[in-house]
Amino acid sequence: MNDISTCLGKITLKSPILNASGTFGTEYFNFLEQEVQGAYVTKTITLKPKEGNPSPRLYETEAGLLNAIGLQNPGLKSFLNEDLFELRDCLRIPLIVSFSGATEDEFIRVMEGLELHSGIYGYEINISCPNVEREGIAFGTDPDVVFKLVEKLAKLTERELIVKLSPNVTDIALIAQAAEAGGATSISLINTLYGMAIDWETGKSRL
Ligand SMILES: Cc1cc2nc3c(=O)[nH]c(=O)nc-3n(C[C@H](O)[C@H](O)[C@H](O)COP(=O)(O)O)c2cc1C
Repeated sequence: MNDISTCLGKITLKSPILNASGTFGTEYFNFLEQEVQGAYVTKTITLKPKEGNPSPRLYETEAGLLNAIGLQNPGLKSFLNEDLFELRDCLRIPLIVSFSGATEDEFIRVMEGLELHSGIYGYEINISCPNVEREGIAFGTDPDVVFKLVEKLAKLTERELIVKLSPNVTDIALIAQAAEAGGATSISLINTLYGMAIDWETGKSRL
């Protein structure tokens, strides 16, 4: 096989292909050789478990797939006690854990929990979520907020620190620069684009 190895910040990858967080469970490796991917990115986890939004959560339009999952996940404790063991057993490629928080403190507490465990090569920081300390405006829309958050997280880890950007901003370059200045070792583009589909008969949103 041709050598397609590459680097993602601090990690050497045998392949430049990574899955998008939340769209790809390890069960897909029953149909696809793991080594096709350079690393495996988990679905985003948060400090506390989240049930996510009621269904329907997906709607396929002619222009693409809309999703409103609501960050369903088992929470940090269950991830550390169960999922992490399973992932370490099953994966032959580097593991990247995606996480998020509703406050700066939540991001920090999740990272502190993950830092106590081995077998994690890096983190993908999902900043597309509402910041409850700033009236629910997503973390990823304000360069100052991004800089301060990433700076605090970067001090806690030697691992690869990927910041996943939200496309729902006016100037994404400013956010990327803020993430870099804060200590991100790479960035991931992009999280879900806002969109809406309306059922013209009921006048209601499909999701
Ligand atoms: C069903 C579904 C679940 C997703 N869950 C997450 C998630 O947990 N964390 C995250 O950062 N992005 C999540 N995403 C966003 C994707 O990782 C990706 O960034 C997004 O779909 C944009 O890529 P695309 O244009 O190729 O679809 C999810 C997307 C979908 C469709």
